[in-house]
Amino acid sequence: MTAKIILVTGANRGIGFCIVQALAQSAPEHTYVLGVRSLSSGEGAISELNNLGINSRLEILELDITDDARIQEAVSEATERFGKLDVLINNAAVAQNPKPDNSDLRVTYNRVLDANVTSVAVITNAFFPLLKKSKDTRVINVSSSRGSVTLQTTGQLPPTVAISYLVSKTAVNVLTLELRKLETDVLFHVACPGHCKTGLNGFRGAKDPLDGAKVIVELATSERETYKSGFWQFEKGEMREVPW
Ligand SMILES: NC(=O)c1ccc[n+]([C@@H]2O[C@H](COP(=O)([O-])OP(=O)(O)OC[C@H]3O[C@@H](n4cnc5c(N)ncnc54)[C@H](OP(=O)(O)O)[C@@H]3O)[C@@H](O)[C@H]2O)c1
Repeated sequence: MTAKIILVTGANRGIGFCIVQALAQSAPEHTYVLGVRSLSSGEGAISELNNLGINSRLEILELDITDDARIQEAVSEATERFGKLDVLINNAAVAQNPKPDNSDLRVTYNRVLDANVTSVAVITNAFFPLLKKSKDTRVINVSSSRGSVTLQTTGQLPPTVAISYLVSKTAVNVLTLELRKLETDVLFHVACPGHCKTGLNGFRGAKDPLDGAKVIVELATSERETYKSGFWQFEKGEMREVPW
Protein backbone atom coordinates (compact mmCIF):
# COMPACT_ATOMS: atom_id res chain seq x y z
CA MET A 1 0.00 0.00 0.00
CA THR A 2 1.28 3.52 -0.82
CA ALA A 3 2.13 5.60 2.22
CA LYS A 4 -0.42 8.34 2.66
CA ILE A 5 -0.11 11.87 3.95
CA ILE A 6 -3.01 12.48 6.34
CA LEU A 7 -3.76 15.91 7.82
CA VAL A 8 -5.96 16.21 10.91
CA THR A 9 -7.03 19.67 12.07
CA GLY A 10 -7.33 20.27 15.82
CA ALA A 11 -5.05 17.30 16.50
CA ASN A 12 -3.53 18.53 19.75
CA ARG A 13 -6.35 17.28 22.01
CA GLY A 14 -9.75 15.62 22.20
CA ILE A 15 -11.01 13.54 19.28
CA GLY A 16 -8.41 15.00 16.88
CA PHE A 17 -5.57 13.71 19.04
CA CYS A 18 -7.29 10.32 19.30
CA ILE A 19 -7.79 10.21 15.52
CA VAL A 20 -4.01 10.48 15.07
CA GLN A 21 -3.39 7.95 17.83
CA ALA A 22 -5.89 5.41 16.49
CA LEU A 23 -4.80 5.88 12.88
CA ALA A 24 -1.11 5.55 13.71
CA GLN A 25 -1.78 2.45 15.80
CA SER A 26 -3.73 0.77 12.99
CA ALA A 27 -1.75 2.11 9.98
CA PRO A 28 1.73 3.14 11.17
CA GLU A 29 3.11 3.33 7.62
CA HIS A 30 1.39 6.64 6.89
CA THR A 31 2.55 10.16 7.74
CA TYR A 32 0.30 12.04 10.14
CA VAL A 33 0.28 15.82 9.97
CA LEU A 34 -1.07 17.46 13.10
CA GLY A 35 -2.81 20.71 12.17
CA VAL A 36 -2.59 22.79 15.34
CA ARG A 37 -3.13 26.40 16.37
CA SER A 38 0.25 26.65 18.13
CA LEU A 39 3.52 24.81 17.59
CA SER A 40 3.88 24.17 21.32
CA SER A 41 0.52 22.35 21.48
CA GLY A 42 1.64 20.23 18.51
CA GLU A 43 4.95 19.41 20.16
CA GLY A 44 3.12 18.45 23.36
CA ALA A 45 0.80 16.16 21.38
CA ILE A 46 3.70 14.49 19.58
CA SER A 47 5.57 13.77 22.80
CA GLU A 48 2.35 12.32 24.26
CA LEU A 49 1.91 10.15 21.15
CA ASN A 50 5.52 9.00 21.36
CA ASN A 51 4.95 8.09 25.02
CA LEU A 52 2.03 5.96 23.85
CA GLY A 53 4.44 4.02 21.62
CA ILE A 54 3.51 5.69 18.31
CA ASN A 55 6.45 5.60 15.93
CA SER A 56 4.83 6.75 12.69
CA ARG A 57 6.17 9.86 11.01
CA LEU A 58 4.42 12.71 12.85
CA GLU A 59 4.61 16.27 11.54
CA ILE A 60 3.24 19.58 12.79
CA LEU A 61 1.54 22.15 10.61
CA GLU A 62 0.66 25.43 12.29
CA LEU A 63 -2.92 26.01 11.24
CA ASP A 64 -5.47 28.30 12.83
CA ILE A 65 -8.47 27.28 10.78
CA THR A 66 -10.00 30.78 10.94
CA ASP A 67 -6.87 32.63 9.77
CA ASP A 68 -6.77 32.94 5.96
CA ALA A 69 -3.15 34.13 5.79
CA ARG A 70 -2.05 31.24 7.97
CA ILE A 71 -4.04 28.78 5.85
CA GLN A 72 -2.24 29.97 2.70
CA GLU A 73 1.14 29.68 4.45
CA ALA A 74 0.23 26.19 5.66
CA VAL A 75 -0.69 25.11 2.11
CA SER A 76 2.68 26.41 0.80
CA GLU A 77 4.54 24.67 3.62
CA ALA A 78 2.68 21.40 3.09
CA THR A 79 3.31 21.55 -0.67
CA GLU A 80 7.03 21.96 -0.06
CA ARG A 81 7.32 19.42 2.75
CA PHE A 82 4.97 16.66 1.57
CA GLY A 83 4.27 17.26 -2.14
CA LYS A 84 0.74 15.84 -1.86
CA LEU A 85 -2.10 15.31 0.57
CA ASP A 86 -4.14 12.10 0.49
CA VAL A 87 -6.61 12.62 3.31
CA LEU A 88 -7.88 15.85 4.86
CA ILE A 89 -9.71 15.38 8.15
CA ASN A 90 -11.56 18.56 9.09
CA ASN A 91 -11.92 17.87 12.80
CA ALA A 92 -11.29 21.21 14.58
CA ALA A 93 -14.46 22.89 15.77
CA VAL A 94 -15.89 25.00 18.57
CA ALA A 95 -19.11 24.99 20.57
CA GLN A 96 -20.26 28.12 22.32
CA ASN A 97 -23.61 29.09 23.76
CA PRO A 98 -24.89 32.66 24.05
CA LYS A 99 -25.43 34.38 27.39
CA PRO A 100 -28.87 33.77 28.95
CA ASP A 101 -30.02 37.24 27.79
CA ASN A 102 -28.82 36.49 24.20
CA SER A 103 -26.95 39.80 24.09
CA ASP A 104 -24.09 38.08 22.28
CA LEU A 105 -26.22 35.99 19.95
CA ARG A 106 -24.73 37.35 16.71
CA VAL A 107 -21.15 37.09 17.88
CA THR A 108 -21.76 33.53 19.11
CA TYR A 109 -23.34 32.37 15.85
CA ASN A 110 -20.64 34.07 13.77
CA ARG A 111 -17.84 32.47 15.77
CA VAL A 112 -19.35 28.98 15.68
CA LEU A 113 -20.31 29.12 12.00
CA ASP A 114 -16.96 30.66 11.05
CA ALA A 115 -14.96 27.87 12.72
CA ASN A 116 -17.26 24.94 11.98
CA VAL A 117 -18.51 25.73 8.47
CA THR A 118 -16.72 28.60 6.72
CA SER A 119 -13.31 27.33 7.81
CA VAL A 120 -14.06 23.82 6.55
CA ALA A 121 -15.02 25.30 3.16
CA VAL A 122 -11.93 27.55 3.06
CA ILE A 123 -9.46 24.88 4.18
CA THR A 124 -10.84 22.25 1.82
CA ASN A 125 -10.66 24.72 -1.06
CA ALA A 126 -7.13 25.85 -0.14
CA PHE A 127 -5.76 22.31 0.14
CA PHE A 128 -7.59 21.04 -2.94
CA PRO A 129 -4.69 21.40 -5.41
CA LEU A 130 -2.51 19.36 -3.03
CA LEU A 131 -5.28 16.80 -2.47
CA LYS A 132 -5.66 16.37 -6.23
CA LYS A 133 -2.05 15.16 -6.41
CA SER A 134 -3.18 12.00 -4.60
CA LYS A 135 -4.56 8.98 -6.46
CA ASP A 136 -6.91 8.30 -3.56
CA THR A 137 -8.20 11.66 -2.36
CA ARG A 138 -10.48 11.67 0.68
CA VAL A 139 -12.00 14.50 2.68
CA ILE A 140 -13.57 13.59 6.00
CA ASN A 141 -15.60 16.24 7.78
CA VAL A 142 -16.15 15.48 11.44
CA SER A 143 -19.76 16.30 12.18
CA SER A 144 -22.46 14.95 14.44
CA SER A 145 -25.58 12.85 14.07
CA ARG A 146 -27.26 15.82 15.79
CA GLY A 147 -26.78 17.65 12.48
CA SER A 148 -29.02 15.11 10.72
CA VAL A 149 -32.20 16.77 9.42
CA THR A 150 -33.90 13.37 9.38
CA LEU A 151 -33.21 12.82 13.08
CA GLN A 152 -34.15 16.46 13.85
CA THR A 153 -37.52 16.13 12.09
CA THR A 154 -38.57 12.72 13.35
CA GLY A 155 -38.49 13.46 17.06
CA GLN A 156 -35.33 11.43 17.62
CA LEU A 157 -33.27 14.22 19.19
CA PRO A 158 -33.97 16.05 22.46
CA PRO A 159 -33.89 19.88 22.44
CA THR A 160 -30.50 21.52 22.98
CA VAL A 161 -29.16 24.87 24.14
CA ALA A 162 -26.31 24.48 21.64
CA ILE A 163 -28.40 25.55 18.64
CA SER A 164 -25.59 27.39 16.86
CA TYR A 165 -23.42 24.26 17.10
CA LEU A 166 -26.24 22.11 15.74
CA VAL A 167 -26.87 24.53 12.87
CA SER A 168 -23.15 24.42 12.07
CA LYS A 169 -23.13 20.63 11.90
CA THR A 170 -26.19 20.52 9.61
CA ALA A 171 -24.49 23.14 7.44
CA VAL A 172 -21.22 21.21 7.22
CA ASN A 173 -23.22 18.13 6.18
CA VAL A 174 -24.81 20.11 3.33
CA LEU A 175 -21.42 21.58 2.40
CA THR A 176 -20.06 18.02 2.10
CA LEU A 177 -23.00 16.91 -0.04
CA GLU A 178 -22.56 19.83 -2.41
CA LEU A 179 -18.76 19.48 -2.70
CA ARG A 180 -19.05 15.85 -3.61
CA LYS A 181 -21.40 16.73 -6.47
CA LEU A 182 -18.66 19.00 -7.86
CA GLU A 183 -15.76 16.60 -7.33
CA THR A 184 -17.08 13.15 -8.10
CA ASP A 185 -13.66 11.44 -8.10
CA VAL A 186 -13.04 12.45 -4.47
CA LEU A 187 -14.44 10.52 -1.50
CA PHE A 188 -16.25 13.06 0.65
CA HIS A 189 -17.42 11.71 3.99
CA VAL A 190 -19.19 13.09 7.02
CA ALA A 191 -18.25 11.22 10.20
CA CYS A 192 -20.02 11.23 13.55
CA PRO A 193 -17.72 10.16 16.41
CA GLY A 194 -20.63 9.88 18.88
CA HIS A 195 -20.92 11.62 22.24
CA CYS A 196 -17.34 11.56 23.55
CA LYS A 197 -15.73 12.81 26.76
CA THR A 198 -13.86 15.93 25.57
CA GLY A 199 -13.44 19.60 26.42
CA LEU A 200 -16.18 20.41 23.90
CA ASN A 201 -18.87 19.11 26.26
CA GLY A 202 -17.12 19.52 29.62
CA PHE A 203 -16.03 15.85 29.45
CA ARG A 204 -19.63 14.69 29.88
CA GLY A 205 -19.79 12.42 26.83
CA ALA A 206 -20.51 8.72 27.18
CA LYS A 207 -17.71 7.45 24.90
CA ASP A 208 -13.95 7.43 25.15
CA PRO A 209 -12.72 9.70 22.31
CA LEU A 210 -10.45 6.87 21.16
CA ASP A 211 -13.61 4.86 20.41
CA GLY A 212 -15.04 7.96 18.75
CA ALA A 213 -12.06 7.97 16.39
CA LYS A 214 -12.87 4.49 15.00
CA VAL A 215 -15.24 5.75 12.32
CA ILE A 216 -12.56 8.07 11.00
CA VAL A 217 -9.90 5.34 10.99
CA GLU A 218 -12.23 3.20 8.83
CA LEU A 219 -13.00 6.01 6.40
CA ALA A 220 -9.41 7.23 6.09
CA THR A 221 -7.57 3.96 5.58
CA SER A 222 -9.96 1.24 4.34
CA GLU A 223 -9.74 0.14 0.72
CA ARG A 224 -11.26 2.88 -1.42
CA GLU A 225 -14.23 0.75 -2.49
CA THR A 226 -15.24 -0.17 1.09
CA TYR A 227 -17.29 2.92 1.92
CA LYS A 228 -19.06 5.11 -0.60
CA SER A 229 -19.15 8.86 0.07
CA GLY A 230 -21.63 9.17 2.92
CA PHE A 231 -22.55 10.05 6.50
CA TRP A 232 -21.04 7.41 8.79
CA GLN A 233 -20.77 6.39 12.41
CA PHE A 234 -19.21 3.41 14.18
CA GLU A 235 -21.68 2.00 16.67
CA LYS A 236 -22.03 -1.39 18.36
CA GLY A 237 -18.89 -2.67 16.65
CA GLU A 238 -19.86 -1.82 13.08
CA MET A 239 -19.95 0.98 10.53
CA ARG A 240 -23.46 2.34 10.08
CA GLU A 241 -24.86 5.02 7.83
CA VAL A 242 -26.50 8.00 9.54
CA PRO A 243 -29.60 9.33 7.77
CA TRP A 244 -29.00 12.81 6.30
N1 LIG B 1 -17.10 15.48 21.76
C1 LIG B 1 -18.22 15.02 21.22
O1 LIG B 1 -19.06 14.43 21.92
C2 LIG B 1 -18.48 15.22 19.77
C3 LIG B 1 -19.66 14.64 19.22
C4 LIG B 1 -19.91 14.77 17.87
C5 LIG B 1 -19.01 15.46 17.07
N2 LIG B 1 -17.89 16.02 17.63
C6 LIG B 1 -16.96 16.72 16.74
O2 LIG B 1 -15.66 16.18 16.89
C7 LIG B 1 -14.69 17.19 16.56
C8 LIG B 1 -13.66 17.30 17.66
O3 LIG B 1 -14.32 17.72 18.83
P1 LIG B 1 -13.72 17.49 20.30
O4 LIG B 1 -14.83 16.96 21.11
O5 LIG B 1 -12.46 16.76 20.22
O6 LIG B 1 -13.48 19.00 20.73
P2 LIG B 1 -12.36 19.65 21.68
O7 LIG B 1 -11.84 18.67 22.65
O8 LIG B 1 -12.98 20.91 22.17
O9 LIG B 1 -11.17 19.99 20.65
C9 LIG B 1 -11.38 20.94 19.65
C10 LIG B 1 -10.12 21.01 18.81
O10 LIG B 1 -10.37 21.99 17.78
C11 LIG B 1 -9.28 22.91 17.81
N3 LIG B 1 -9.67 24.22 17.34
C12 LIG B 1 -10.72 24.98 17.70
N4 LIG B 1 -10.68 26.16 17.05
C13 LIG B 1 -9.57 26.13 16.27
C14 LIG B 1 -8.98 27.04 15.37
N5 LIG B 1 -9.50 28.27 15.16
N6 LIG B 1 -7.86 26.68 14.70
C15 LIG B 1 -7.30 25.47 14.94
N7 LIG B 1 -7.81 24.56 15.78
C16 LIG B 1 -8.93 24.90 16.45
C17 LIG B 1 -8.84 22.96 19.26
O11 LIG B 1 -7.54 23.52 19.33
P3 LIG B 1 -7.06 24.40 20.64
O12 LIG B 1 -6.56 23.42 21.64
O13 LIG B 1 -5.97 25.26 20.07
O14 LIG B 1 -8.24 25.16 21.10
C18 LIG B 1 -8.90 21.47 19.60
O15 LIG B 1 -7.77 20.81 19.10
C19 LIG B 1 -15.49 18.48 16.32
O16 LIG B 1 -15.71 18.63 14.94
C20 LIG B 1 -16.80 18.19 17.03
O17 LIG B 1 -17.86 18.97 16.52
C21 LIG B 1 -17.60 15.91 18.96
